[in-house]
Amino acid sequence: MPIIKLENVGFSYKDYDGRVIEALKNLSLEIEAGLFVAVLGRNGSGKSTFAKLLNALLVPTEGKVYVKGYDTTDPDGLFDIRKSVGMVFQNPDNQMVASIVEDDIAFGPENIGVPREEIKTRVDWALKTVGMEEYRNAAPFKMSGGQKQRVAIAGILAIKPDVVIFDESTSMLDPAGRNEVMAVIKRLVKEEGITVIFITHDMNEAVEADRIIVLDGGAAVMDGAPREIFKDEGLDAYGLKLPTVSYIAKRLKEGGMPVDGPVMTPDALAEELCRLL
Ligand SMILES: Nc1ncnc2c1ncn2[C@@H]1O[C@H](COP(=O)(O)OP(=O)(O)O)[C@@H](O)[C@H]1O
Ligand SMILES: [Mg+2]
Repeated sequence: MPIIKLENVGFSYKDYDGRVIEALKNLSLEIEAGLFVAVLGRNGSGKSTFAKLLNALLVPTEGKVYVKGYDTTDPDGLFDIRKSVGMVFQNPDNQMVASIVEDDIAFGPENIGVPREEIKTRVDWALKTVGMEEYRNAAPFKMSGGQKQRVAIAGILAIKPDVVIFDESTSMLDPAGRNEVMAVIKRLVKEEGITVIFITHDMNEAVEADRIIVLDGGAAVMDGAPREIFKDEGLDAYGLKLPTVSYIAKRLKEGGMPVDGPVMTPDALAEELCRLL
């Protein structure tokens, strides 16, 4: 059974003048547990709305969203859905609730009534998983953006979610911070079996995913493995670019080098160049 399932989902906002804004339309898809799924699309394409539907912050105005088999409009499933689907946002400064790292991470499990001993175990595990053990007693305001995001992720992990959604959570970070957070995300998928939904503007990050869903005008316009998505046909139309490595490969091909297939990682490009030279 897929962990997330959308059936003909539509979502409309009403703005101040009562005008209806259709943010998502007729979206049907399934997401299998344990995958790393990237969601791409230009500003306003419906990515954040999609994210909010997945932990019942919003419920669809048309169609159905199911999480772990629960219809998100079913009040009986709400607590379980909120526990199962955690969300990491864009601004690392807006996600801290306590002045000491370990208190911040313990906040979530305390709120849902996890016993004290168990909280301690979870905080230890969460700190280790994001590589922040040494910062247990540190004050978040002194840390880098990447470190703050890792603490935010630890806070979500302490609730023991099945799914973690990242809504442009790397966009305010410097390259080092992005790399730290990407490394943690990959570990969540590989070592903890967590399903990751990763919303980003960065094609170089999206390349790392198992699957990419492209939204445009509230509809899913592309859906597939990075190799298929980055074949460079029609990407422009959705405001997307090629990942850097694929772009270099493409230019080499245009310059007459017979580079084979869509190349997406620096290692693959290096290998391909060695083969050709
Ligand atoms: N609270 C809101 N009220 C009215 N319109 C909204 C609201 N939030 C988003 N929208 C509109 O819904 C559409 C999709 O927005 P959003 O899901 O935030 O897209 P993205 O995250 O891809 O930028 C946009 O046209 C946006 O202006
Ligand atoms: Mg958004």
